[in-house]
Amino acid sequence: MKLLSTARSGIAALALVAGTIPAAAAFPERLITVIVPFAAGGPGDTVVRIVGEHMARTLGQPIVVENVTGAGGTIGITRGLQAKPDGYTIMVGQMGTHGAAPAQYPNLKYDPAKDFAPIGLMAATPIVIVARKDFPANNLQEFVDHVKRNQDKVVEAHAGVGSVSHTTCTLLQSIMGTKTTRVAYRGTGPTLNDLVAGQVDFGCDQIVNVAPQIQAGTIKAFGIATAERSAAMKDVPTTSEGGLPQFVVSAWIALFAPKGTPQHVVGKLNDALVKALDDEGIRTRLLDLGSEIPDLAGRTPDALQGLVVREVARWTPILSTAGQ
Ligand code: MLT
Repeated sequence: MKLLSTARSGIAALALVAGTIPAAAAFPERLITVIVPFAAGGPGDTVVRIVGEHMARTLGQPIVVENVTGAGGTIGITRGLQAKPDGYTIMVGQMGTHGAAPAQYPNLKYDPAKDFAPIGLMAATPIVIVARKDFPANNLQEFVDHVKRNQDKVVEAHAGVGSVSHTTCTLLQSIMGTKTTRVAYRGTGPTLNDLVAGQVDFGCDQIVNVAPQIQAGTIKAFGIATAERSAAMKDVPTTSEGGLPQFVVSAWIALFAPKGTPQHVVGKLNDALVKALDDEGIRTRLLDLGSEIPDLAGRTPDALQGLVVREVARWTPILSTAGQ
């Protein structure tokens, strides 16, 4: 009987392994939902729609964007991490939701470094100080002077406490020593609409969101917060050139799955991401918007995990002392 039971367990084991192999090879068998935790038309939405288009082709299944907004992106992320960890629900996380949020939300329902299966980084996105096109300043120094003199009247627009736009303009206002009115939107897609309409005065936004409007002249750019000028906007000076060298800051946009998503599923999603970032057409679209595309080493799940750990450690002390 022992032999038979051994034989049976052997066959069972073989079947199990065999059963697993088709499952691994089969993913994905249906459409994938990607939660964008901000309103449509913002940087996160824009980047994932570009990259996701190519990923869908590689994976052979549609990738559908679901915008779940509020609380600086933390509502959408909380929804995403509670999804079944099967790879069919993933989410866009970024420097706000996975870097600044712990310092801004003491009761945050997740730990960016523990509650996710990182898939990979899609793009780094330098920050630009932007303003309505008739803002009464012609350069960064005049912008700073005007905001200082009129901080009781000037209005900054952002995508909610803890978002990239809020976090980086908290740093900017801390450097300027100002405390203006700050208005929260559900993403910097809507923020940009009101900036173009002249309803608000300024903001700190990711280059991928504002590049087209700057190039069209419908908003003003006073400085890009990087060491070098952007190839996508050569005539926009750096913040250092404009006399604000302390304001050098970039954001980033990535893909995450819920913790517990099987390794082979994460691997397939990462492989599709890597292929998308190597595609000339996708690269051109991302680079034309001023984003920086991670190299191969920067696209791994481990690289993203390391970035999250570093970003939480970086922003927590800054935001704890910024006093906004
Ligand atoms: C942010 O400020 O975090 C983003 O720009 C929000 C968005 O993607 O709309």
